[in-house]
Amino acid sequence: MKRLNIAAGNWKMNKNYEEGVDLAKAITAHEVKDSHTMVILGTPFIHLKTAVEVAKANPNVKIAAQNCHQLTKGAYTGETSVDMIRSVGAEFVILGHSERRAYFAENNELLAQKVNTVLAADLRPIFCCGEALEIREAGTHIEFVAQQLKESLFHLDGAAFAKVVIAYEPIWAIGTGVTASPTQAQEMHNEIRQLISDKYGADIANATSILYGGSVKPANAKEIFGQQDVDGGLVGGASLKANDFIQIIDSF
Ligand code: 13P
Repeated sequence: MKRLNIAAGNWKMNKNYEEGVDLAKAITAHEVKDSHTMVILGTPFIHLKTAVEVAKANPNVKIAAQNCHQLTKGAYTGETSVDMIRSVGAEFVILGHSERRAYFAENNELLAQKVNTVLAADLRPIFCCGEALEIREAGTHIEFVAQQLKESLFHLDGAAFAKVVIAYEPIWAIGTGVTASPTQAQEMHNEIRQLISDKYGADIANATSILYGGSVKPANAKEIFGQQDVDGGLVGGASLKANDFIQIIDSF
């Protein structure tokens, strides 16, 4: 089976409610040309319920939260549970974004707990991994990403792992305008797929969508998505403009 192509937007902490609804409507109104492409909108919590309603108009569009708590309920002021996310109809949760790792001290161990909680709620994680510039310059980026996957995902059994979407996001390419070259992206994606294959077998590895994130824009999406092991993108800045994101969706 051919794995899905995915164009996922990560809105981060952008768009007030009205602006977010308008953006979700504009993207949902776009007919996805390739039936093998899924569009995911990673909205702030405030927008989730309405985004799910809006997305019902287009079977190719799904909705993701950008985070969740690792526990299912309780006295954790300000936090959001997987049950809440599930109850409004979102299907995915972005986990382990480098901004969460850097600003909210999320580490591989905590992320393993979040992965379990998300899967137990019948939601699907979009698991982010990726190295900082110093690590790439030291030449240890492949080992670094392998460690992130091993410590946060590889405790799963095959059936659970098969629900995970991976997003490789080199930190040096996020919001910087510097994109990994198609060759750099392909090299890492191929390594990730090999690791998955070693752990879970070729069938699961070949069915796993591995997205690239970091300064994806209309001008470079086609070339990056054209790489054999790149199955789409997790897009920040360019997902905030309907026309740009639509061009990215049409880049497969
Ligand atoms: P940019 O596309 O703005 O570089 O952000 C990438 C990202 O962090 C997506 O999660």
